[in-house]
Amino acid sequence: MCGIVGYIGSRQAPEICINGLRQLQYRGYDLIGLATVQDGQVHVRTATGKPEAMDQLLTSEPLTGTLGIGHSTWSDQGKASAQDAHPHLSSNHRIAVALSGTVENHQELRENLTAAGCEFRSQSAGEVVAQLVQTHYEGDLRAAVCRAMEQMQGRFALAAMAADSPDELVAARRFLPLVVGIGQGEQYIATDMYSIRDETDRVYVLGDDEVALLTAEGIELTDLQMKPVQREPFVIPQPAAADPKDKGDHRHYMHKEIYEQPDVIRNCLAGRLTSPDLPIQLDGLNMTEQDIRDVRQIIFSACGTANHAGMVGGYLMEKLARISCVFELAAELPSRDPVVLPGSMCVGISQSGETNDTLMALRDLKSKGARVISVLNAEDSTIARESDGVLYIHAGKEIGVASTKAYTLQVLTLSMMALHFAEVRGTADPELIRSLKKELLLTPAVIQQLLSREDEVKAVAQKHYDKPDAFFLGRGVNMASAMEGSLKLKETSYIHSEGYSAGEVRHGPVALLQPSMFVVAIAAQGEVYDMMVANLGGLKGRSAPIIAMATDGDTQVPTAGVDPAADASDPTSQPNDMIWLPPTHEFVSPIAATIPLQLLAYHMADMKGEGIDQPRHLTKTVMPE
Ligand code: M6R
Repeated sequence: MCGIVGYIGSRQAPEICINGLRQLQYRGYDLIGLATVQDGQVHVRTATGKPEAMDQLLTSEPLTGTLGIGHSTWSDQGKASAQDAHPHLSSNHRIAVALSGTVENHQELRENLTAAGCEFRSQSAGEVVAQLVQTHYEGDLRAAVCRAMEQMQGRFALAAMAADSPDELVAARRFLPLVVGIGQGEQYIATDMYSIRDETDRVYVLGDDEVALLTAEGIELTDLQMKPVQREPFVIPQPAAADPKDKGDHRHYMHKEIYEQPDVIRNCLAGRLTSPDLPIQLDGLNMTEQDIRDVRQIIFSACGTANHAGMVGGYLMEKLARISCVFELAAELPSRDPVVLPGSMCVGISQSGETNDTLMALRDLKSKGARVISVLNAEDSTIARESDGVLYIHAGKEIGVASTKAYTLQVLTLSMMALHFAEVRGTADPELIRSLKKELLLTPAVIQQLLSREDEVKAVAQKHYDKPDAFFLGRGVNMASAMEGSLKLKETSYIHSEGYSAGEVRHGPVALLQPSMFVVAIAAQGEVYDMMVANLGGLKGRSAPIIAMATDGDTQVPTAGVDPAADASDPTSQPNDMIWLPPTHEFVSPIAATIPLQLLAYHMADMKGEGIDQPRHLTKTVMPE
């Protein structure tokens, strides 16, 4: 998703647009562009690099104007080139468009426009849209954008201006976020409302296929037929006391966000779980007790880290609330065309609330009659708007591309949900529910304790970070923890890694084990502990060094599978490297186990000299290709 900031008023637009884009720079954009309308012409400047590159360009090639659009993005492929940067101009240079997202039929539109005599300068869909707006422009920019939108397919947000409409700015969206900011004698456009928070805290959140016409004096919202749309302004919440973009004493956002976990857990618990003796309150669910009793099946659907949180949540829901749970990778769900039984509910999990695969999966399930509940971090997202109920995790802004605090809070929120359902349905021993609530209330202290053991994790990382391959293994509720630990390692350190069930690994993958790789095995106390110890014995015999995670005081795991008779150079003869976990109930252990797994990935990546916060080929929010 790209960043767009637009301005119309009496001040200089370039400055306001660049300042807005600066707020988005943590996303790692490497292309930036600005356009203004001045003296009857559209003027464009584009640069590779960060907003500072644009500052520098403007010193040699100044740009002025009180109507302007700024855009920043990642280069699509290979080397960043200023030619690919938005805003793009139409062929007659009278229209400029900044586009975020995907126009699925842009090739077809390009061919039609080419056949009609238009010449393109780039391969960008943004240029196709600028050209399309030009073909419909007869002095009314808003009407031209509406007609262009009718021909466009996909998920996008855009801002447009015309040399011949020097007092107007037009914004429109379909499925991607876009707001228009309300000022006094000036107005704004932004894909991320926080990028204009320094200018105004009042915005209109545009709906799908809605268009905003901005003049210095005001804003008109319409649909594509230009019928007026009424909307109440939304007040942008105050940012958290500490600026989320301030890394403080931490070298990376990932490390900072790992350390924020005790605090954000308290935020997430607040008002929901306050005492082991009181019922859990989950108002955002929007479900009566009867609704909860009527649920027959829950489909958990999400991507990446959020999917792992869903696996933990589903495990707990089935164990505690005795509801049949299924897990569907969101990216696969619509094409599988799953059967949705009456009484089904689906739980979508997403940090951003904008992940396209998750959105498509939830829409598919909703269209088949499932109630959609989402567990989200970002507020006012597309998934939030389309859900029947939303539980916010309250993680604050997560900047590191590798998700850490959001995962822990997703697991916590889903744990509360499972306990709530169990309470309402009367399916679990009240004493167990009470003790689990007590343990969840203690998780900030448990995490603090785990953070104080960071050096032990770092020492283990030091021993193994130069190995090219790894396996993360767990069973039961911690199979998902193993998969999450593995994902964290591969995306930050680029070490090839697989997360597996410690039982399933014996059905083939174990053939890969050898001394040049390492295995991380989660063997916390609980129902599957004995099986894990047995699995460790079998794994150790395959000569791969083992990093075992076990509960404080455990005496079996450190030597599980060790063969004292083996040659000293054989890893089989060495005790396992240990990462210790404070005692927790098995159902709470995924939250505890996650902290050292995050730290292990972080330190291995750091030791390898990787960038960590912006891993190669990854974006914070995955949109359509
Ligand atoms: O914003 P979402 O939670 O929907 O994102 C889902 C995944 O793209 C995300 O968790 C991804 O796997 C992260 N890079 C994991 O660290």
